[in-house]
Amino acid sequence: MLSEAEKTRLREFAAHAAEHAYAPYSRYRVGAALLLEDGAVVTGCNVENCSYRLTSCAEQGAIARAVAEHGPGIRVMAVAVANLNDAASMPCGACRQTLSEFGEDGMVVLYPGESGPMETTLGELLPHAFRGEFLG
Ligand code: THU
Repeated sequence: MLSEAEKTRLREFAAHAAEHAYAPYSRYRVGAALLLEDGAVVTGCNVENCSYRLTSCAEQGAIARAVAEHGPGIRVMAVAVANLNDAASMPCGACRQTLSEFGEDGMVVLYPGESGPMETTLGELLPHAFRGEFLG
């Protein structure tokens, strides 16, 4: 269970990561901070490309970095997303699927909603997720 102070801290990590965003095309600067089960925090930001579809979302960058730094066994307990545009930013559909590979339905998701800070779970955002166990 995350305390309010821990949630605030994770949101702050995400906002700080957004300052490093490479977003010259959308100018929508996003940061994500993952809380791993051992207490480590790993951040990422969006990295755009002039071939637009090659853009990497902040959450995807954070997951790639977490695996690179902490290994393939990572489990994500919570994720915070932030942007520097005073806009809503919940994880996109692709990022929800990416997150679900490394966490449970109960993963806490903190994000700026359309009318203020929001908290939900991955299971709420991505019900009936496709999971690797179905592959047999
Ligand atoms: N973006 C993210 O970083 N995460 C999301 O979950 C949604 C979208 C980025 C991708 C792109 O650089 C910009 O936001 C506009 O779509």
